[in-house]
This record gives sequence, structure tokens and C-alpha cells, in this order.
Amino acid sequence: MHKITIIKSYFELGSKAADCVEKTLLLPKSSIIFPTGSTPISMYKELVKRKLNWSNTTTYNLDEYMHLKNPEKSYFYYMHKNLFNHTNISSNKTNFLDYKTFSKTKNYGFCADLCILGIGRNGHIAFNEPGGSFDSETRIVELSKQTRKDNSRFFKSIQDVPLKAVTMGLKPIMSSKKIVLLAKGKSKKEILEKAIFEEITEKIPASILQKHDNLKIYYCD
Ligand code: F6R
Repeated sequence: MHKITIIKSYFELGSKAADCVEKTLLLPKSSIIFPTGSTPISMYKELVKRKLNWSNTTTYNLDEYMHLKNPEKSYFYYMHKNLFNHTNISSNKTNFLDYKTFSKTKNYGFCADLCILGIGRNGHIAFNEPGGSFDSETRIVELSKQTRKDNSRFFKSIQDVPLKAVTMGLKPIMSSKKIVLLAKGKSKKEILEKAIFEEITEKIPASILQKHDNLKIYYCD
């Protein structure tokens, strides 16, 4: 059975996750899947501070919005602003899901050495919303009302939140050799506990993580 490690502070949450990334960067060749959103910000800050060598790794992002009006809201922009612009990684080693070309790179996260995840309040991981198949591959999805509402805090209004996104599927995510799930705030506690300790069900996509044998879960209030 998996356990949820309770971390004292948000800074420490980022630091724990950064330790896992740092260890992976030391491999002769590695691949890492990254999330966006508010939870991993302290991890990215810590990674930038540590001035690590990124030359042996290739990165992949979990998801990307479609049809954005403002490119500054894209996860491409987010990753450059929060991480890549402050490291020695070369741009041909950073991969993003582009809805025009994603079918060419379909399961690009296959067997990644490390996958860092956040969790949505409805139990989504990446943009795999409740009800989707555990066997899902990378694809275009419709965002749920709850996700659009939750993410409207990053936009002027909910109308500006895209209706669709491209997301890595649960299958390629689960094929990662190691998964680290990060959650912050009381609003995530209930769904996190449900996902990890209750029934494995497609109604709570994150519950599939119970089947992973190299999973770490870090939570802070
Ligand atoms: C984003 C992603 C999402 C977020 C989740 C939590 O790339 O994969 O699943 O991790 O929506 O977002 P925050 O951290 O903003 O609460």
C-alpha cells in the first residue's frame, strides 16, 4: 500500500521533488515528464537555484491547451519562464504537445525515467479527466467544467479558458519508471486520499497510480 508523505512547508515540497529530479539528471541519459500549474512552482524555483547540469536529459510536458488566445498562457511559455530559460538545456531536448503535430509524437513519454505529477480537484492527472479510460493514449480531450473553473484563476475570466487540450494519456504516464505526485492545500486532501486509499476507478483518474510500484506522494497543507 502506498503512503502519503506529509511535508511541513511548500518550500520543502519543492525541495523533495527537486531532489528526485536532480538524481535523475545525474544519469548518463535520462527523460523526465513535467507538469505545470501552481503546485510545482516551488520545485522549479529550487531547480533553478541549484544550477544543475541538464545536458543529459530530455524533457516532456504532460499537456497543453488548444486554441489559446494569449500564447503567454501556454505551458510552453510557463516552462520557459519558470525553468528552461534558467538552465543549460537545449531547446531540441524539450518536448511539448502541440495539437497540430501531437499524433507524430503520440506516446513520447513512453518509459520516462521520472514523471512529476500534480492532481486536479476532480482527481485528474495531466488533463485526463474523470471517466476517461485507464488505457488512454496521448490525445485531444475536452476540459471538464470543474477544471475550467479551477484554472480560470490563471485567466481574465472562465470564458478565456480553452475548451480543449492535448494530454498525455494514462498509459504512457504509468509506463514511467518512477512517479512523484505533488499536492498542495486542503482542497486537494480529500481527493488525494480517495485516489490513493479507496477504489481504483476511472471516475478518479489518479487512482490508477495505486498500481504503480515506484510512486512517491508528497503533500503539504
Ligand atoms: C498541468 C497538469 C494538471 C495539474 C493539476 C493541478 O500540467 O498536469 O493535472 O497538475 O490541474 O494544478 P495546480 O497545481 O495548479 O493545482
